Amino acid sequence: MILRNFAVFEGIDGTGTTTQLREMERRFVSRGKKAWFTAEPTDGETGKLIRRLLSGERRVHPDTMAHLFAADRCEHVYGAGGIEEHLSAGMAVFSDRYVFSSLAYQGSTGDTELPASLNRGFPLPEYLFFFEIDAALSMERIRSRGGSAEIYEKESFQRVVQERYREVVGRFEEQEPGMRIVRIDATRPIEEIAEKIWSIVSELPKM
Ligand code: TMP
Repeated sequence: MILRNFAVFEGIDGTGTTTQLREMERRFVSRGKKAWFTAEPTDGETGKLIRRLLSGERRVHPDTMAHLFAADRCEHVYGAGGIEEHLSAGMAVFSDRYVFSSLAYQGSTGDTELPASLNRGFPLPEYLFFFEIDAALSMERIRSRGGSAEIYEKESFQRVVQERYREVVGRFEEQEPGMRIVRIDATRPIEEIAEKIWSIVSELPKM
């Protein structure tokens, strides 16, 4: 099932999805338009646990991470104040990451079947913006931000995730003609990328 007026931003770490989400939020708010901006992992209880595990505080089995991301997503989509509720209220919803992150990241840490089966049931977004950049450049961006690296923020791993993302996105392009999939060259200037996304989403929510 495809959820109309639902858009997601995806890509390896350091591609600028969060910057673009904020940019769209600024544009929607300044025009008084109805939209909800959200992200995964969420700031709910499962999302907070995921954040602690991403920091490397404790190690858990890769399959446990796949389950946690799916549980966090379940609440994000169906829980009170979640994606479905906002869409039903007539708002557009933008999420920084969604099922494609699990298919790409958890599909790179273990076998691809578990993330595929855990995520098969979630509704799909109408728009998928896939941000692409060379892993060396994205890691350089992450290092320049400072702070301590999360468990997935290693160049060799990001390369594997990038490849997996390409496979996953390619498959959705073939199999889900109802989704609009837009590839973003994440090396382009922030304003240029924002204009490209805005030219597609500025009319949302469509009734
Ligand atoms: P963020 O850095 O975009 O906030 O995302 C946190 C990290 O979690 C990032 O490395 C991607 C990873 N992640 C997964 O591995 N699987 C998922 O399903 C999601 C939503 C994020």
